[in-house]
Amino acid sequence: MTMSFEPCEKYTNSALRAGDVDPYPQRLVGEFLGAVVSNDWVNKEYKLIVLAVHARALEAYAGQFFHLLCPSPDGAEVWMRRPMSIYRIDKKAGHLEFLYKAEGRGTRGMAMLRAGDEFNIAGPLGKGFTLQPGWKHIVVLGRGVGLATLAPLSQLAADNGVGVTAILSARNPDVVMSKALFESYGARTITVLDTDKTSEVSNVEKILEGLIAEKKADAFFTCGSSRLLALMQRLGKKHNIPGQVAMEQIMVCGFGACYVCMRTFEIDGVKTLKRVCRDGPVFNMQEAVGW
Ligand code: FES
Repeated sequence: MTMSFEPCEKYTNSALRAGDVDPYPQRLVGEFLGAVVSNDWVNKEYKLIVLAVHARALEAYAGQFFHLLCPSPDGAEVWMRRPMSIYRIDKKAGHLEFLYKAEGRGTRGMAMLRAGDEFNIAGPLGKGFTLQPGWKHIVVLGRGVGLATLAPLSQLAADNGVGVTAILSARNPDVVMSKALFESYGARTITVLDTDKTSEVSNVEKILEGLIAEKKADAFFTCGSSRLLALMQRLGKKHNIPGQVAMEQIMVCGFGACYVCMRTFEIDGVKTLKRVCRDGPVFNMQEAVGW
């Protein structure tokens, strides 16, 4: 018997574009070719990329991430995909959005993409944020690009009828992140800055204590700052408020195989290692040891 092997498009390029028939609809994770809709600066440091993606990529939820195959900014190869948390999922438009700082080679290459280009993304990956029944109002506290990771909580909370107060910490007013997005979903935002010292831990603590007294803090969420994590852990313990933290970490495979992304956590006084990509990136706040 002779066998012939013919090239098959389905197997040589399995990444799905928007509108493609999905040969594996049961799979949660996939490789997708997003069409760049826009890739614009939102302030001096950050860009927002909007991608038209296949419907399966839109099944992502808040706190999950995609592994991005960034183009090279300089002709030399970019070896690894870059993990990036989802900023916004717009199911109606079929869009996925990422907010990023163009500072490394991968993100500088990403910053060069123009409308109409294709961008290879794999995901959604990891375990994201969860809301418990009975929570009426949550507090989100983040700094810098950590606020991009926390931003989809605004959408998740609004979809579940949960109120949000978002405390947005930044160096100066020009780099306050995600304010418009939080407010578009009905969240109350409080901006705290280094320039006027309102971002100091003592002031943020006062704001949090006020929200707890108003019964507006059924749960805490944070990302992007060890000192803010430590503050929320302390107040969480003091007032018995549960919390979740999204951890940032260098990754290689992104799906649990290489163990590059291990971090130390502390559970009931015992130190343990976990993979941020697969066991997280969202973890119980009280178990996190910080950045
Ligand atoms: Fe490979 Fe997490 S990046 S195990």
